[in-house]
Formats: sequence, C-alpha cells, structure tokens
Amino acid sequence: MPELPRVAILVGRKGRGTNMARLLTACASGYVPAEGRLVVAPVSGNPAAIRARALGARVEVLDPRSSGYSARLLDLFREERIDWVCLAGFMSLFPSEIVGEYEGRILNIHPALLPRFGGKGMYGIRVHEAVLAAGVTETGCTVHFVTNEYDEGEAILTRSCPVLAGDTPDSLADRVLELEHEAYPEALRMVVLGL
Ligand code: GAR
Repeated sequence: MPELPRVAILVGRKGRGTNMARLLTACASGYVPAEGRLVVAPVSGNPAAIRARALGARVEVLDPRSSGYSARLLDLFREERIDWVCLAGFMSLFPSEIVGEYEGRILNIHPALLPRFGGKGMYGIRVHEAVLAAGVTETGCTVHFVTNEYDEGEAILTRSCPVLAGDTPDSLADRVLELEHEAYPEALRMVVLGL
C-alpha cells in the first residue's frame, strides 16, 4: 500500500480547535485520503490542544512569538515527513521560510468571502462585526492557499450563506462555522487528490 500523505494542523492561542477536529476526523474516516500526523499549538492547555490529544493526535507546543520558531517548526515537519499544512484558527503571519518550502501545500480557512473582510487584524469575531457593519446580504467562508501576505492566496473553495435581519456577530459566526466544518475537509480532500 502506498503511504498516505501526511498532514500537520496549526491552531491558534485561543483556538477551540473545531476545524482541526473536523480535519482529523475526516482523515481518520478516509474521506480525506491522508494521515493527520501532527497538531502544533502555541500553548499546551487551550481547548484546541486538549481536543487534539483527545483525538489521539501528536501535539507539539510551539509559540510563534518564540525565537527560532520557524526552524523548530520546519524540523518538526521534516521529522514527521509532513506533506500538507492546514492553518485552523492560526492568527499570525505564517513564516515565509516555510511558505517557500511548502509553496502550494499550506491551506488556511477564513470566516468570510475573501478578498473582502480579510487582511491583518481581521480574524475571528472581528470579521463578522465588519460584515454586519458593511451591511452585506451574503457572507461565508474561504479555504485558500497561504502566501506571505495575510489572506491573499488563491481560493480553493468558498461556501456562502445569507446575512439575516437581526443577526449578531455571534449568530453569524455560528452560521459560518457550520459552513467551515464542511468546507475545510472538502478542500483538503480536493488538493490531496489533485482535483
Ligand atoms: C474559525 O472561524 C476560522 O475561520 C478563524 O478562526 C476560527 C477558528 O475556530 N480563522 C481566522 O479568522 C483566520 N483569519 P476553531 O478553533 O473552532 O477552528
């Protein structure tokens, strides 16, 4: 049997890890023909890290603000022979050295229809606040390739939903998160299969 491609997932400091969990279970079920090898979290005890351990993943703690971060991350990727990298709630700019080495193999999910409502400082609930403030009638999520700029890479897949009268940032976030949970495994499946 040929070896399955190997996936690392990077979560954020305040990450809940719901997208990460969807990706790991999609790999485990075979929907995504890949192996969820590694979860990298900035802190040991956040909900994402706890959830990842409960799902049996190898969890490594590496703080993007620490010195030598990108070299240590790259060492981990080499040790685990990682083929694909998924950012799931990772809010920092991804190190350019690794973008260079993994070009076209790093994915991110953003809770809006890019290119609108993206860029530096635009993450989590702030995105949904901006969507409501802009008065648009449609929002959604975008899975895209990662480049050296925030939220700039080519889109792989988008999913959209209406913005409803009476929506709050939280109600919008919940509706979009449901889309994210379908879109991210589907996008990973597409790129792994070369579709
Ligand atoms: C998700 O909504 C994701 O789209 C967002 O962080 C959340 C993480 O949730 N990412 C960004 O805003 C990136 N700019 P999760 O920890 O439950 O997966």
